[in-house]
Amino acid sequence: MSITAIRGFNDILPNECSKWAKIEAEARRVFALHGFLEIRLPIVERAELFLRTIGETTDIVEKQMYLFKDNGGDSLALRPEGTASAVRAYIEHKLYESPVTRIFYSGPMFRYERPQKGRYRQFYQLGAEVLGDAGPFSDAETIAMLASLFTNIGIKGVSVNVNSLGCEECRPSYKAMLSEFLSAKTGSLCDNCKRRMDKNPLRALDCKSEHCIEATKDTPSIREHLCTGCKEHFSGALNALDALGVSYEINPRMVRGLDYYTRTTFEVIATEGLGSQNAIAAGGRYDNLVKELGGPQTPCFGFAIGMERLALTMPEKSDTARTAHIITMGDGTLKTAMEAAATIRGHGVPATIDASSASLKSKMKKADRIGSRFVIIIGEDELKEGLFSLKDMTAGTQERVTREALLEKLADSGK
Ligand code: HAM
Repeated sequence: MSITAIRGFNDILPNECSKWAKIEAEARRVFALHGFLEIRLPIVERAELFLRTIGETTDIVEKQMYLFKDNGGDSLALRPEGTASAVRAYIEHKLYESPVTRIFYSGPMFRYERPQKGRYRQFYQLGAEVLGDAGPFSDAETIAMLASLFTNIGIKGVSVNVNSLGCEECRPSYKAMLSEFLSAKTGSLCDNCKRRMDKNPLRALDCKSEHCIEATKDTPSIREHLCTGCKEHFSGALNALDALGVSYEINPRMVRGLDYYTRTTFEVIATEGLGSQNAIAAGGRYDNLVKELGGPQTPCFGFAIGMERLALTMPEKSDTARTAHIITMGDGTLKTAMEAAATIRGHGVPATIDASSASLKSKMKKADRIGSRFVIIIGEDELKEGLFSLKDMTAGTQERVTREALLEKLADSGK
C-alpha cells in the first residue's frame, strides 16, 4: 500500500506556508480597510446548491464535482467554489437584514480536474463578495482593492482582463446569434463545444482547442450586443477603473466557467511563470443569484484568489530569516540559554535552543541548515565572563557581546 498523497491533493510545505501566511495577513489587512468581514463556511454542502447555481453545462457540474452520499442518504458535495456557499449563508442567516454587506472567506475547494502546475484537485481560495450594491463603482473598487493587495505583496507582471457578459435582457439574443454563427462552423469545433453549442455557446469563445480558436476568431463581440443598461454599467466600471488608476485590458472572449455571472467579469492573469493555468484571481458580478436561491433581489460582485497560483508567482524571499539559534556547550549553560531565549522572544525575535550533546561543529552545521540569521553560543567561558558569542551568519562575523549589546543587535537587524 502506498501512503503518498493523492495526486492533485498537495501538502503545503513550511517554506510555502510562510508565503501563504504573508498573503493571508496582507489580505486580511486590505480587506478590513475596505469594510469586508470574515465568514467561515463549511467544506461540505448539499450537492443541489452547486448543481443549481454553477450551471448544468459548465465543466464543474458536468465532470468536476466530488459528489457522495453520506450515511443518512443525503447527496452532498465537497464545495468546488465559495460563492454559492456565501450566498446560501447570506440568505439562511438573513444577513440582508443585518449591517453585513461585504464578506470574505478562505479555505480549500475541490474540483476533479487534470492535475498540472497551478491546477489541483484540492486548491485554496481567498474570496470576497460585495452584497447588495448594483453600481459599477463597486465592481471597479473591488478590482482596485485586489490590485493593491497584489502590489503590496510584491506581485509583478499581472494583467487585469475585463469583459461584460450582459444580462437576462441582452444575453439570450447574443447567445442565439452565436449559436447560429457557430452552427456554420460545427465541423471545426471540438466535441465539447459541439455538444454545448445550443445551451452554452459562449464557452466556445474561451475553448483552448486550436480548431475552436480558429473557428471563432471572427465571432461577433458581445460588447456590440449589450443592452443600454449593460453598456452604461460597463462604461461606468471602466471609467471608475481609470479613475482608480487600475490598468486593464478588455477581453471580449473571456466568458468564465460559471454560469451565474451577469455584466462585469474579470480575471487577473500572471503574465509569466504559470504556463496555461495563469489566472491568479477571477470573479465578477452576479445580480440574480441571491434571488434564484430564494433571497431578496440582491446585486452582488466578488472574486476569488487561487492561493497556490498566487504563491507560485510571489518572489522568493532571499534574506535569511531574522531568527536566533542558541547553542549550549557544557554543563550549566542551559539555564542561561533558556533565559536568553525567553528575553529574545519577548523582543519579538523567534529563538530556538540546541541543547543536545553533539559537538560544536555538528551544531553549527545544523544552525546553517536551519537558516537562522544569528547563532548565539553559550559555553563555559561565556558563562564565566557573563557574555554571549554572537555569530551573524549573513555578515559572517563573530563577537563576544553583553546581554544588552546582544538584544540591541537583534533589534537593529529588524529595522
Ligand atoms: P474560478 O475562476 O472558478 O471562480 O476560480 C477562481 C480562482 O481559483 C482561479 O482564478 C484560480 O486562481 C483558482 N482555481 C480555480 N480552479 C483551480 C484549480 N483546480 N487549481 C488551482 N487553482 C484553481 C470562482 O471560483 C468564483 N467563485 C469566483 C467568484 C467569487 N466570483 C464571484 N465571487
